[in-house]
Amino acid sequence: MPRTAARLAALLAAAALAGAAFAQTRAGVPLADEATAARPLRMPDVIFVPTPQEVVDAMLRMANVTRDDVLFDLGSGDGRIVITAAQRYGTRGTGIDIDPERVQEAIDNAKAAGVKKLVRFRNEDLFAADLRDATVVTLYLLPELNRKLAPKLLAELRPGARIVSHQFDMGSWKPDREATVAGRKIYLWVVPPRQP
Ligand SMILES: C[S@@+](CC[C@H](N)C(=O)[O-])C[C@H]1O[C@@H](n2cnc3c(N)ncnc32)[C@H](O)[C@@H]1O
Repeated sequence: MPRTAARLAALLAAAALAGAAFAQTRAGVPLADEATAARPLRMPDVIFVPTPQEVVDAMLRMANVTRDDVLFDLGSGDGRIVITAAQRYGTRGTGIDIDPERVQEAIDNAKAAGVKKLVRFRNEDLFAADLRDATVVTLYLLPELNRKLAPKLLAELRPGARIVSHQFDMGSWKPDREATVAGRKIYLWVVPPRQP
């Protein structure tokens, strides 16, 4: 992994651990609003860090997204990738995020962007999500999460489906294309035909 990508991965992972420590402290000290506070299904595997808009645009171009696609963003954060695809190309999309606050934020952003009818956001663990409808999957996770996800993507996505990842590759599954945009790496894989 290049040094900047390794630094970013370490930062994201350290921040996720810090989040877990914070959650434990909070669990031991009851807060007034705890009963009503939205809680993740479990601790996120990686914290929310948004993909810069320029990189989102390049990812959608690299995947050649059209109005005929169904795009899934796994770990969708504030919804920007799904919302941009809907606004720009009329693409139907689903965002999946384990953090209910991110899901609500994405729903609010989709309403504000006028694309509510094209998109939905689900509070779900991406590793448990049914991906079979997706023709395009977008990722901004961590190297080890991409590697863990690869067998699921190969099993559930149709041949010809495209996967685009911001910053991190998929280990031994080599990308079909890669590029650098605004200092960030982006990678594209096309799901191969199934072996008989
Ligand atoms: C680095 S952010 C990327 C957000 C968005 N895809 C983007 O590129 O702007 C990763 C997101 O994944 C979510 N996440 C982490 N672990 C997850 C899991 N197991 N299932 C679903 N979402 C998860 C986090 O809550 C966070 O919003």
